[in-house]
Amino acid sequence: MSGRSSFLIVANRLPVDRTVEPDGTAAWRRSPGGLVTAIAPVMQRRQGAWLGWHGAPDEVLGPFEDDGMELIPVPLSAQEVQLYYEGFSNATLWPLYHDVVAPPVFDRRMWDAYRAVNERFAEAAAEAAEPGAVVWVQDYQLQLVPAMLRERRPDLRIGFFLHIPFPPVELFWRLPWRKELVEGLLGADLVGFQLPGGAANFRRLCKRVLGLPYKSNEIFLDDRTVTTQAFPISVDFAELDTLVREPRIIQRAKEIRVELGDPEHVLLGVDRLDYTKGIGQRLEAFGELLGEGRVTPAEAVFVQIATPSRERVEEYRRLRDDIELQVGRINGEHSNFGTQPIQYFHQSYGREELAALYLAADVMVVTPLRDGMNLVAKEYVACHHDLQGALVLSEFAGAADELRSSFLVNPYDVEGLKRQMLAAMESSPHELARRMRTMRRRVATYDVDRWASEFLTALES
Ligand code: ADP
Ligand code: G6P
Repeated sequence: MSGRSSFLIVANRLPVDRTVEPDGTAAWRRSPGGLVTAIAPVMQRRQGAWLGWHGAPDEVLGPFEDDGMELIPVPLSAQEVQLYYEGFSNATLWPLYHDVVAPPVFDRRMWDAYRAVNERFAEAAAEAAEPGAVVWVQDYQLQLVPAMLRERRPDLRIGFFLHIPFPPVELFWRLPWRKELVEGLLGADLVGFQLPGGAANFRRLCKRVLGLPYKSNEIFLDDRTVTTQAFPISVDFAELDTLVREPRIIQRAKEIRVELGDPEHVLLGVDRLDYTKGIGQRLEAFGELLGEGRVTPAEAVFVQIATPSRERVEEYRRLRDDIELQVGRINGEHSNFGTQPIQYFHQSYGREELAALYLAADVMVVTPLRDGMNLVAKEYVACHHDLQGALVLSEFAGAADELRSSFLVNPYDVEGLKRQMLAAMESSPHELARRMRTMRRRVATYDVDRWASEFLTALES
């Protein structure tokens, strides 16, 4: 490992996660979630280092290399995992920023841990960055880092990107530490959001909390300006497009359909098991379609992949119980010997298996109640060079701004959801091709490299 870097990514997570195998040995696996999916290919193509937590508590590790990336682990104690990661990040900020779809917890001990861990990340970044380096801080877990880092290293160019939605002022206002968080973010030279609406919310908030004036994208501080802008994140289109043309992936997609009993329609959901994803809503809609006989178990199978996520947070535990109960109920009512209308998997999959699943699916159902972007929707599009396949997409996912030719739905409207799922199943190949072509053009043009280079160009200019 070299000493200091001229380009640093700072994120709560490293791209690999330390796990313990059943026999007690430590192992590594890819970390879950869209942030890692997006940043990993960007880092593999650039010189630099990635600073983040390696997913295990109470373990101090030295820097190492993985898959062409230089990784610098930042340790967290078991108590910090509980208070900073599960607590303030995922029981306070996550629900608050996602339209309060679950009630946020406001707890001073969690806030103290959040501040302390943010200090540690800022300290580690200050040590790892060479003079004048570009440091790109990621996501809601590290919103205090930009200001803490600027205080230590005013020579750096500091960017921040929020992967999740930035809430309206009225919701953010509830946060007892609203001023500190806003000041933390304003330590960056450039604050990036998924959508223009998030950037606008942030500018209004700065005015309201700190009385700061702004004009178009710029917020004016006493001694400098902070630029705020939307950069919709994307996927590695070329990598997926190449992958799904491989004979082994095509073969695997065929096998999957056979294993599912060769139904006419394969519907697919792929999500972290998160209450923002609207998994219950889509299953309810599918269950009602079965109940009303508008689809039969012989003709349609719904595959729901739910990646385990944040399993010690109370809301996530409850969600898992709810979803598994719902799957059991629907299957109990509608299964025959040999056919089960919902195939549910609480597991993680490799990129290849996931690509084969996307290829095998006729209808991709993405119904978040709120989502910063949703890369699954874009991955599905990238996998369908055959121009077949329908995307049912929530209006509340950031991706809906770009993928207007999808079957757009309001996930709170069960009847509407049923209608669009049926329309997706019944569309002609010609209609599907028309929609898919438009969506593919968009995702191919605005891929993850373009996202990163537009952000970094704006940061460095
Ligand atoms: P989020 O970041 O909230 O998890 P996204 O849809 O933006 O949501 O990104 C999820 C990422 O995780 C995608 O790249 C998707 O391919 C990946 N993913 C989701 N579920 C699984 C799974 N079961 N196995 C492997 N990867 C998964
Ligand atoms: C979302 C967040 C990421 C996070 C990922 C997985 O994509 O924006 O910051 O890493 O979910 O969640 P986890 O809590 O497992 O890191």
